[in-house]
Amino acid sequence: MDRALAVPTSNDPHAIPPAKISSPAGAVSPAEIDVELDRAMTEHYVEGRRGMRSLTSTALLVALAAGVALLPAWLPARRMLGVGLETTLPFAAISALSIVHAAIAFGRVGGRGRWYRVAEHVESVCSVSCGVALIYFSGSASSVFWLYFLLFVADSWNNPRDVRIQMTLFGVATSVLAVAFAVRGAFTDVAVVASVGVLGAVCIYAFAASARHRLRGEAERRALRARLEGLLVERERDRIARDLHDGVAADLSTLLWRARELKEAVAAAGNGEATSIVDDLVSDVRSSLDELRATVFALRVAGGTWDELCSELRTRVTRLCAGSLRCEIVFHDDEAAADVPVDVRIHVLRIVQEGVRNAVRHARAKVVRVELERGARVVVRISDDGEGMPDGALEASRGGLSNIVKRAHLLGGEASWSSDGGTHLVVTLPLGAPG
Ligand SMILES: Nc1ncnc2c1ncn2[C@@H]1O[C@H](COP(=O)(O)OP(=O)(O)OP(=O)(O)O)[C@@H](O)[C@H]1O
Ligand SMILES: [Mg+2]
Repeated sequence: MDRALAVPTSNDPHAIPPAKISSPAGAVSPAEIDVELDRAMTEHYVEGRRGMRSLTSTALLVALAAGVALLPAWLPARRMLGVGLETTLPFAAISALSIVHAAIAFGRVGGRGRWYRVAEHVESVCSVSCGVALIYFSGSASSVFWLYFLLFVADSWNNPRDVRIQMTLFGVATSVLAVAFAVRGAFTDVAVVASVGVLGAVCIYAFAASARHRLRGEAERRALRARLEGLLVERERDRIARDLHDGVAADLSTLLWRARELKEAVAAAGNGEATSIVDDLVSDVRSSLDELRATVFALRVAGGTWDELCSELRTRVTRLCAGSLRCEIVFHDDEAAADVPVDVRIHVLRIVQEGVRNAVRHARAKVVRVELERGARVVVRISDDGEGMPDGALEASRGGLSNIVKRAHLLGGEASWSSDGGTHLVVTLPLGAPG
């Protein structure tokens, strides 16, 4: 969608637009809550892992595996377990190794690292497979080796995000065990395994759902807090903009008016030296007023939307060009244009202001054209038909041009100039880049 506008010239280039009172924001959206929920689940998961992967916990888990492995060395226990050392030792070793591997991965890359995520899945598969094998070799589904599944089921409280993986793994493991007993013709064991399978799956689901429910409440609270903080900042910005506009800016406008009257009076009296001093005074007051107006404008843009920025830019560019050259402003929005964050909006504002101000001050141009394109990124184009930038101006710049480059780089974007029948500036700003 293109919105082209030949900008009318303003009668009073120094008028300050009235400060705007932002409309109150709406309720927290489901998307905002989802973002917070995702964050809360990750924190909850990493926090839970920190205790589980500590040196003490890892040593305890390995000791547990070793205890299970060595139990058959005691004859009564061997009878109760139904398996000997030759069976328990290799499975306990596999299980212990996967526990140690996961602890090392956590120590190296933390709970969010890819290595750890893989190590954790390997550990789950190992412990569940060892449990299935030991129950099967014990000869009966009424086995203490179900203990291997206990930690696995309990862990779903800590990791509600992986509930599907956990239920699938648990379902596959118990199904394999049930089939193995069925092949042996031990149908009572099949019934026991099926019951444990259903019970375990229900527990995994219930633990995960309960954790998710708790975290959702936490996420809603966080999203509301963030929204509230945003509103307070916005209100404060509005207040400052209003105070500046109605107080200091109004006083400065009066001062400018009186200084102009003084200038006329001094000129009429024919005092050349005094006229030049008053001239400087008028110009100083005008630039203070300009600076103040830019500050009020930036405060308003920060609290507004992209469309409000476009409409404000139109007014602002018009004032900058007034009396010296014609300006054209074109806004172009992609159908799927992304939302433009506050920091990008403020940089766009400053870049356009500086680009147009340079064309007005240095280019000796007749026309300046500003194009603002919003899609997956924001592109600012400012062209004039003036005499072009002198060689080395960019490298020598300590002000406007170098600031434009810095602003673009801050947002992960780029700025470039070309001179061909005037000066042409193109600034590309990705959306969602580091601010
Ligand atoms: N559109 C333009 N057309 C012609 N020359 C330009 C243009 N833009 C910049 N220049 C040249 O580049 C120089 C550096 O510009 P830059 O904006 O960095 O500084 P400035 O405008 O002189 O001062 P300020 O720091 O206040 O912006 C200018 O002095 C001018 O010579
Ligand atoms: Mg400049």
